[in-house]
Amino acid sequence: MTIDPKIDELLRKKAQAHQGGGEERIKAQHQRGKLTARERIDLLLDKGSFRELDCFVLHRTTDFGLDQQKFLGDSVVTGWGTIEGRLVYIFSQDFTVFGGSLGEAHAGKICKIMDMAMKNGAPVIGLNDSGGARIQEGVVSLGAYADIFLRNTLASGVIPQISVIMGPCAGGAVYSPALTDFIIMVRDSSYMFITGPDVVKAVTHEDVTFEELGGADVHAEISGVAHLSASSEASALLLVRNLLAYLPQNNMEDPPFVPNGDDPLRMENTLDTIIPDDPVKPYDIKEVIRFIVDDKQFFEIQEAYAPNIVIGFAHLGGYSIGIVANQPAVLAGVLDINSSEKAARFVRFCDAFNIPLITFVDVPGFLPGIAQEHGGIIRSGSKLLYAFCEATVPKLTVITRKAYGGAYDVMSSKHIRGDINLAWPSAEIAVMGPDGAVNIIFRKELSNSDDPVKRKADLVADYREKFANPYIAASRGYIDDIILPHETRPRLINALEMLSNKRDSNPPKKHGCIPL
Ligand code: HXC
Repeated sequence: MTIDPKIDELLRKKAQAHQGGGEERIKAQHQRGKLTARERIDLLLDKGSFRELDCFVLHRTTDFGLDQQKFLGDSVVTGWGTIEGRLVYIFSQDFTVFGGSLGEAHAGKICKIMDMAMKNGAPVIGLNDSGGARIQEGVVSLGAYADIFLRNTLASGVIPQISVIMGPCAGGAVYSPALTDFIIMVRDSSYMFITGPDVVKAVTHEDVTFEELGGADVHAEISGVAHLSASSEASALLLVRNLLAYLPQNNMEDPPFVPNGDDPLRMENTLDTIIPDDPVKPYDIKEVIRFIVDDKQFFEIQEAYAPNIVIGFAHLGGYSIGIVANQPAVLAGVLDINSSEKAARFVRFCDAFNIPLITFVDVPGFLPGIAQEHGGIIRSGSKLLYAFCEATVPKLTVITRKAYGGAYDVMSSKHIRGDINLAWPSAEIAVMGPDGAVNIIFRKELSNSDDPVKRKADLVADYREKFANPYIAASRGYIDDIILPHETRPRLINALEMLSNKRDSNPPKKHGCIPL
């Protein structure tokens, strides 16, 4: 049987498009330990769900002999598919074609699916593996980047945007991922920087490798640019699938309700003894979180960055929630510049996407010191305050131990529209810790005392009894109830149900002026 030549031509062209930059370059990509753009899409999406767009698109550059080098689809694969049956749009840069570099045609393909994602209200996932601006296209490629940056910004807070960095991402190219909601990096094979090691050497005379300058560990631990990192491409893509389980398709929807077998009335007696008797002894807030949430599953974000605050997603009674928690096991859970900014961004993301916030408070205050003051802790701390004040999603707060000073106000207190604020009996809500308070208000008396050590101990004990408890705050209604730690899970689930139709809003405005 003869094949219709027109069908034959179509099949040939499609096969050619699937070859990207050709067998040799695919081999080189595999030798680098990297998958191809299409293999990545196949791994990420539900089997057989990918529908490609624009595989016949060609670049139109003629300079530097580029008119002699054309690849069907150019250097990016785009389209849509599903993850757990839910629609997502995707682009996957093809390093085998001009090193995945971005020019007019490449950017046009990305902009097309971003526009579709905005119209149809579904997340965009970008798999980045690119040498940056296509050098032969000059300023056209810079304009093409800006077309994407604009769309990233307009889509922010409307549809979730997730970037996976699976190779180079350098120069201005970093700003598209940086404008998205989450950046996931692959260890040892991806890097992000504004200027590479050669430029660094020329300008500052510092010797640095690609990995040391902008590898996954650097961005996960030091800069905070990466939200998640993974040891392989497959695990990075799995993280995308897991993350999406907590997110709605767009800002007009609620996140998916995930029924599970964990009893909403489950009591957790371990919580009754988890707070050490000694108020300066640490404990791990992540243990508290795991005992409370469904199936002990906590999806932590930015785990290695500013670990004195913990942020992440979980389900509680099937509801998707965002958790913000001071971590007494690191720097006593103090708020500093990095932890304030880390939490502020997360709070704003949750608020934008209708994800209720649960805040666990055990905070001795803001970190004192010259470095913090000169680094702008005032500005950074105000970001977190602003974010909590502005958030209109259901806000539940549990004070487990310390809630001192300004940090009490900041950590989703009643005064800034906390919906249900609970405290454990171990809570200490005061202007400052007993030691510092006694030093200030009894300075004269202590300096005149015959036995200042004993006198101070008595005064501290007195202060602790009077102020370091939740009852004064509760007597004012700043705390809605003092609960037994073991009943925290059922109480929070009940509050989420009670708040499921919550409506609150901010005054009409173009946008606020968050202290950036
Ligand atoms: C055109 C590019 C390219 C680019 C790589 N290629 N980058 N083509 N424009 N930006 C091509 C190479 O010529 C080569 O083609 C193929 O891609 C693979 O590149 P290799 O160098 O062989 O690969 P490798 O050794 O792995 O090195 C990868 C690399 C390196 C580190 C990314 O190629 C590199 O440094 N590229 C330039 C990066 C750069 O300076 N980009 C501009 C940044 S400024 P053949 O045909 O040989 O396979 C920027 C501004 C954005 O991006 C501004 C936005 C506002």
